[in-house]
Parts: sequence; C-alpha cells; structure tokens
Amino acid sequence: MIYYLLNILTYIVSSLHNPIVGGQNATAGSWPWQVSIRLTDYNFHFCGGSLINSGWVLTAAHCFANTKYTASQVTVYLGTETLHGTNMNQVFRSVTSVTIHPNYDANTVNNDLALLQLSSTVTFTPYITPICLAASGSTFFNGTLSWVTGWGNISDLHIFNLYDNEVQVPIIGNRQCFCLYGGGITGNMICAGALPGNKDPCNGDSGGALVIKQGSIWIQAGIVSFGKDQGCAQANDPGAFTRVSQYQNWINQVITSNQPGFVTYTSSGTNADLNVSCSNLLFVFFLAVAQQTLQQINTSIVSCDSASASTSICTPAFPLEQVSNLNNILFIFKTVYIEIL
Ligand SMILES: *[C@@H]1O[C@H](CO)[C@@H](O)[C@H](O)[C@H]1NC(C)=O
Ligand SMILES: *[C@@H]1O[C@H](CO)[C@@H](O)[C@H](O)[C@H]1NC(C)=O
Ligand SMILES: *[C@@H]1O[C@H](CO)[C@@H](O)[C@H](O)[C@H]1NC(C)=O
Ligand SMILES: *[C@@H]1O[C@H](CO)[C@@H](O)[C@H](O)[C@H]1NC(C)=O
Ligand SMILES: *[C@@H]1O[C@H](CO)[C@@H](O)[C@H](O)[C@H]1NC(C)=O
Repeated sequence: MIYYLLNILTYIVSSLHNPIVGGQNATAGSWPWQVSIRLTDYNFHFCGGSLINSGWVLTAAHCFANTKYTASQVTVYLGTETLHGTNMNQVFRSVTSVTIHPNYDANTVNNDLALLQLSSTVTFTPYITPICLAASGSTFFNGTLSWVTGWGNISDLHIFNLYDNEVQVPIIGNRQCFCLYGGGITGNMICAGALPGNKDPCNGDSGGALVIKQGSIWIQAGIVSFGKDQGCAQANDPGAFTRVSQYQNWINQVITSNQPGFVTYTSSGTNADLNVSCSNLLFVFFLAVAQQTLQQINTSIVSCDSASASTSICTPAFPLEQVSNLNNILFIFKTVYIEIL
C-alpha cells in the first residue's frame, strides 16, 4: 500500500513515474475547485485539495499527519493552471488551521481526510469556485464515470515542470476493490480506476478530488488517498479514495458557519458490485464463543451495518460477523481474509 504523496525524497525516487497516468491537459477553469498545497519555504507542491467554500479546503489527512507539516508551513494556491509558468488567475492564502480527522489511522489509512482553514476568504471567479460534496446516503454504483484531477505529469526532472492533469475513470465497487486489494478497503473508502490499467492518480495527486457530474452539478465523491502497488496505473489496481459522503456530519462539525454544499448523488439501475465475491481470497471463519449479553452483540452488528450502509463492507473496527444465539450462548463467526498470491 502506498500513498499518493509527493515529498522531496519520493520525488527523486519516483520522478519517472507519471502522476495521473493516461490523463490529458485540463483547460483553464475546468476544475476551479482544485488547489495546490505547497511548503511555503520551497514553493514545493506536495498535495492537492479542493475548495469547499470561500474559506476552507478539503484534503487527505496523510498529507499532514504523515509529513508533520503544520498550518504555518504551508500555502494554498487557487486558480492554478500550471505549476511551471504563469498563472493569470492564481491567488494564494496562508493556512490558519489544519484539522485532521480524529480517527485517521496511518496504518489502515481509514478516515484519510483533513480540513484546512484559509487565512482569509477567497472571491469566487470562473477559475476559483467551490465543489459540492457528496451527502451522506449517496450511492455510487460500479462503473459510474468519474474524474480525478491533479498536478502529476512530470515530463522531465525539473521539479516544477508539472501539468494540471485530468483523468476519467470508472468507480469500482467496494466488493470488487476489496478483492483486488486482498482486503483493507473499508466502507469509508471508494475506489476508481480502469481495470486494464493506464489510468490512475499517482504521486503528488494526494488530497485531490474524485468528482462526478449529476445533471449540471459537480459533486466530490472521493479524496485521492492511496494505491496498492508501487507503480501507478497498473492493471487491476484501482486507486483508493476517502469516501466523502461518510463525513458530512464531521465536516459540518468543524465548519460551523457558511457550511459547504452537500448534494446526494444517486446511482440508477443495479449495482453489479453486489454480485461480486472474492475468488482470490480464502475466507477463514473463526468461531468464538462469547458470554456477552445479547444487547452488546446487537450493538456491534448495528454499528457494522451503519458503517457499511452504502458499500456492504464493514470497517476494520467492525469486522464482518455472523452471530447466532443458541440457548443464550452467542456464537460469533468472524471472517478473516487471506489473499491467495
Ligand atoms: C499539455 O500541456 C503541455 C504544456 O503546455 C504541452 O507541452 C503538452 O503537449 C500538452 N499535452 C497535451 C496532450 O495536450
Ligand atoms: C465494474 O466496472 C468496471 C468498469 O466499468 C468493469 O470493468 C467491471 O467489470 C465492473 N464490475 C462488475 C462486477 O461488473
Ligand atoms: C504526459 O502526458 C502526456 C499526455 O497524456 C503524454 O503524452 C506524455 O507522454 C506524458 N509525459 C510523460 C513523461 O510520460
Ligand atoms: C447478478 O447475477 C445474476 C446471475 O448471473 C444476474 O441475473 C443479476 O442480474 C446480477 N445482478 C446484478 C446486480 O448485476
Ligand atoms: C437489536 O437492534 C435492533 C435495531 O436497533 C432493535 O430493534 C432490537 O430491539 C435490538 N434487539 C435487542 C435484543 O436488543
């Protein structure tokens, strides 16, 4: 599992990877919510993000938690078209606070999101416009076409010679993604990527937005989070994104005034992902006999269901369990996944 985080060390190692592989250049103003987050002292782009109202940016937690960069070290650039050369429509803001999701887990990459408060609000222009966020209860069926943007196409070894890039990818359902990853995909994640490979976000795109158009409204469904293998755009290796719709409550707790727009995205038809089961994974059932009360077990099952409402897969905190109750002895069948290589 690797992060799509470009830092100075991985830059040197990975400079021949092409972040957002297989993309095309975005035309100015096509993705006006996309921001570039930089280390102020070096003007060094390390992550993307999205503008969600006039004063806040949504990005990935690992951009800050793993680097230990603080609010005072970074600057957010908006209206940026290219990381090298002139930007007629660019403005920048310093950052007054970085709020990492309290349950972000660097090992499982669960809850990979953070909110940045800008030092002052920005004025919206055709090049600087916030994105609506997917509301809780949104559904994204397998195959739904989405877009990922970021500054990724490193065409040579000049560190700022990056282009704003865009790539269109289908959503891959959580069950299929779980199988492809051999586990580790939780209900707080959403996957996207062409299964034959060639299209994928990559280093430096972290924190950027996975967006879907519903009618005339663009909705952010995911935040660029991590990928499975070292290489980008490998076959059968969709990217994993933070599932934005799981965080409406948390975002509204952090941003208490002028809250971002939340829009429910509803897929139509049937979700082919519901038919997926992992043929490459061995399902090991552990039988545990517990003398807990029925109420306690019931609570954990309910939590599992609500964590997985949109995806059918539970978070690691609530592994898939089956419980039966025979003569007041509870049998817990715990499912453990082992990848067959
Ligand atoms: C993207 O833009 C760069 C810089 O302007 C240019 O060199 C390159 O040819 C463009 N690529 C495409 C596919 O248009
Ligand atoms: C999910 O969508 C992808 C991309 O369209 C497709 O390749 C894949 O076969 C679909 N999965 C299922 C289970 O239909
Ligand atoms: C950058 O992207 C363009 C357009 O997709 C592609 O033609 C070019 O080969 C890429 N650059 C590198 C170094 O791969
Ligand atoms: C699941 O598979 C069955 C049998 O192949 C098929 O009839 C059904 O339409 C599939 N359901 C979805 C949601 O793809
Ligand atoms: C289990 O949870 C459901 C849903 O909240 C509730 O209706 C039911 O009464 C609970 N059962 C027990 C035994 O607590």
